[in-house]
Amino acid sequence: MADDQPSAQMVASAQKTSELMLATVFAALGQEFAETTPENVPEGKKSISLIFNDKNKDMRLVGVLNPLQSGNVPQDAFETTALAMAMNGENYTSLQRVDGRWYYRRSTAVSNFHASCSMCHSNFGPVNPAQWTGALMLRVPVGGGE
Ligand code: HEC
Repeated sequence: MADDQPSAQMVASAQKTSELMLATVFAALGQEFAETTPENVPEGKKSISLIFNDKNKDMRLVGVLNPLQSGNVPQDAFETTALAMAMNGENYTSLQRVDGRWYYRRSTAVSNFHASCSMCHSNFGPVNPAQWTGALMLRVPVGGGE
């Protein structure tokens, strides 16, 4: 039944999946930051926005500091809470039902830790790992059927 709480085992598996996904997405972003130069900023922005395709609700970058895309502000209660925490450098996870199915959702705070950040986000200013800018939000369906 869709209303039933998923088993602890299914939740643990979704959590493990989210950890794998987080590491993969961070590796891809790390590559993108490393290859960004003042000369290729427009192409780099396009590349990141294709990776974070708006149709993919399973991974989103969210922030309120002059977001590069208007849809990148919080879209629901989870994102609102998670972003508020991320702006203090805190991560957040939650098991939630969205559109009738269970998801393990996780938010990872991102700081202005790399010199490339401000090439694309000119409002961030010089590199400062203590400056929290927003969050990477991932969600993984719990249980079969995906
Ligand atoms: C090559 C350009 C580029 C670099 C470098 C870059 N970003 Fe972004 N960033 C983007 C783009 C493009 C988006 C919008 C992605 C989307 O949702 O399609 C984005 C989105 C974001 C968001 C969500 C809010 C918004 O502005 O839309 C945050 C927060 C963010 N980036 C933080 C960072 C941080 C922190 C760094 C450095 C560690 C960084 N970015 C480096 C291009 C870049």
